[in-house]
Amino acid sequence: MKIAISGKGGVGKTTFSSLLIRTLNDMGKKVLAIDADPDANLAAALGIPDADKITPIAEMKEMIFERTGAQPGTIGGFFRLNPKVDDLPDALSVKKEGIKLMRLGSVKKGGGGCLCPESTLLKALVMHIVLARDEVVVMDMEAGIEHLGRATASAVDKLIVVVEPGRRSIDTAENIRRLASEIHLNQIYIVGNKVRGPKDEEFLKKHLSDFEILGFLPYADDLIEADLQGESPYDVESTAKARVKEMVASL
Ligand SMILES: Nc1ncnc2c1ncn2[C@@H]1O[C@H](COP(=O)(O)OP(=O)(O)OP(=O)(O)O)[C@@H](O)[C@H]1O
Ligand SMILES: [Mg+2]
Repeated sequence: MKIAISGKGGVGKTTFSSLLIRTLNDMGKKVLAIDADPDANLAAALGIPDADKITPIAEMKEMIFERTGAQPGTIGGFFRLNPKVDDLPDALSVKKEGIKLMRLGSVKKGGGGCLCPESTLLKALVMHIVLARDEVVVMDMEAGIEHLGRATASAVDKLIVVVEPGRRSIDTAENIRRLASEIHLNQIYIVGNKVRGPKDEEFLKKHLSDFEILGFLPYADDLIEADLQGESPYDVESTAKARVKEMVASL
């Protein structure tokens, strides 16, 4: 199963992704966790030590040169458009129990659409991961879904959009759905996060009535505290854990 997580900034994508990944791991599944958000730290949320020292793939200059035949940072010119990537998930991931984590990092974009070695490598890698890996894949993405091209979208089984009670995250959900449908990714689910009570739940249900809702996670001070302490939200007791377990069962 290939799952992509998106949503407005700060709604809880990384928190939810980490709970989902650790839950799957505890169920005995092998999980390939992809941190596709340059500003995020999924590794820390998973409880991986020294998470901030993991080098993102986009910054592995020598490897990118070796695989594409061109120096990262160069635009245009000649380089391999189909670099070898199939060994990278095993070679370059950080491991914790049944979880392998890869941090993609970001490509400094120059103008419209970057045709550069590092973005070509990342695209090939994401494509390989969703098309050929047989673990459960969970991708923590930014507010957009630009890592998913037309060719890869068909292999993504589920796009989970995290929302919080608020107008802007709902607008973002609508936008993401529009982008997703353009690349024929139609299995979209909503997770309502930071829900303070029945009123918040009703608000989200009302404004997202034509979405399929996977479930709700309560607003919890313990999750913020975990974040502040650099701990995994999965390692603190919260009802969120039980809720995510139910969601996995219904996926
Ligand atoms: N259910 C919750 N209750 C309370 N706080 C939460 C909850 N979920 C997440 N948070 C807090 O909200 C903040 C943002 O969460 P998180 O980093 O998971 O969001 P994000 O969508 O991944 O953000 P970004 O867009 O920056 O990557 C964190 O401080 C986190 O602890
Ligand atoms: Mg995040």
